[in-house]
Formats: sequence, structure tokens, C-alpha cells
Amino acid sequence: MTSLSTRRFIQLAALSAAGLLLAACGKKEAPPAPAAAPVAAAPAPAKVYVVGTDAAYAPFESQNEKGEIVGFDIDVLKAVAAKAGIEVKFVNTPWEGIFNALGQGDRDMIVSAVTITDARKLTMDFSDPYFDAQQLIAVKENSKIAKFADLKKLKVGVQTGTTGDEAVTKLLGKASTNIKRFESTPLALKELESGGVDAVVADNGVVIHYVANNPGGKFKTVSDKDFVPEQYGIALKKGNTELQAKLNKGLADIKADGSYDRIYTQYFGAPPAAAAPAPAASK
Ligand code: ARG
Repeated sequence: MTSLSTRRFIQLAALSAAGLLLAACGKKEAPPAPAAAPVAAAPAPAKVYVVGTDAAYAPFESQNEKGEIVGFDIDVLKAVAAKAGIEVKFVNTPWEGIFNALGQGDRDMIVSAVTITDARKLTMDFSDPYFDAQQLIAVKENSKIAKFADLKKLKVGVQTGTTGDEAVTKLLGKASTNIKRFESTPLALKELESGGVDAVVADNGVVIHYVANNPGGKFKTVSDKDFVPEQYGIALKKGNTELQAKLNKGLADIKADGSYDRIYTQYFGAPPAAAAPAPAASK
């Protein structure tokens, strides 16, 4: 009842306001104001930032049985957004084309285990780094491959356009037909399982997670210290310094209050290793 009478009241108020207006301007030709005209404009809804992520990259981003996008990156960004006081919405976006979607403004940011690289910095901006990563080689258990250079004459699977693709392209050569490119890293690893490629080179976190969760694949991993250290950042449209500042502040806040370490431990079993002390000058 209350709501009904409130509505009546608003309608009446609108009507009389319209009447007053008409009387005030006193123009003969003034058309009758519609009675249902809203009394006051509703407050503008808060902006919801659209976050693109290629959700085939567990444990960073994947889809659960309910189709929800979950993972380390997702939890980190949600925590950052809460600190920054912004609203975010995740949209599954294929890796190929993910940066175009950013450039065209279809996504406000990309959170997708994106490595900060100099080449990418030419066309996009990044938040401060939030994760340390490195390439890792996946091979079959019985493989003789012991280091990255061993892949030179072999068939290698990568996810198209990733830093793994870049490393392998550099080793095997641009024209190499031995590089097998896939639209997702799990697809490349499936190909390794079926014997279509001899190795896969991809981000360590994803390779370790996949190998651990697919014991039937009979994989092992091979690390190589020649792979350059990588860092993930949140990618933003070039020049979006306002959002960049908000995200950096949020990142600093979740690192300071321990929530970053909590999320990290939840996904990787232990907090990130503290920065190693400078090694003593030996060797
Ligand atoms: N870190 C690598 C890169 O930036 C791979 C990231 C792929 N991410 C994904 N969600 N598929 O190139």
C-alpha cells in the first residue's frame, strides 16, 4: 500500500509541477506535458569496468562448471577493485584479438597473465607488475630434452602470440615450420600428449598446473635459466593514466595488508618467495 500511495504522490507531484511549468511559460502553443514525465533524473549508475581475460589458463583464469570465470588473476583483480573503489566485470575474450579489443575500447583492461614487454608497451600501458613468471618446457616423461636449445630441430607447440611463441620463434627461426601454434595453451599441451609435438613452451604456472592435473599425460617439465624473467601486469589502453593510478594504488594496498599473499598462497601453496638477497660474488 505504501509504495502505491508513494507512486500516486509522485505522479500527482509531477502533474502539478508540469502544470506550474505550463503556467509559468504561458505560451499558447505549448503542448500538454505528458503526465508520466519523471520528476528527477536517476543518479548515473557507477561505471562498470569491462575486463577481458582468456579464461583457458588455469590457475590464472579459467571457467568453472558453472561457467564462472575464476582464478588467481580474477581474485587479485577483485581485491584490487575493492580497494580502488571500482566495479569490474570479467568477459571471456580469446587471446588472439584480446589486445585489439583493448585498443578499440571494447575492454577497459586485460587481466590475463599478460607479460609486460617493451613491444607491448608501444601500444598499451600496464599497471605495476603483480606476478613473476618464466617460460617452462613441457615434454613427455621419457623425453631426452634437457634444455631449451635441444628444441632447435624439434616440433614445438606454443600458444599463438604469447611470450612462449616469441621465445620459440627466436630459437627455431621465423620461417620454421616446426612451430605449431595453438589458440590456447591447453590445446598445445593436448597435442603434446597425443605426440603431435615434441615439447610445449609456455608460462611456468600454467605448465606446472596442467602437468599436475593430467597425470595420465605422462609429462615432465624442463626448466632453463636462459629464459628471461617475466612479470605480469594489467594491460590498459594507452594513456588511461587515471585507471592506471587507481589499479596501482589497489595493488599496493593488497600487498601491504596481506591479502595479496593470502590469494597467492591459496593458488600456489606458499606466499611468493621474498626477494632473494644479492648473491655473494662467487664463481
Ligand atoms: N604470459 C604470456 C604472455 O603474456 C602468456 C599469457 C597467456 N594468457 C592467457 N590467459 N592465455 O604472452
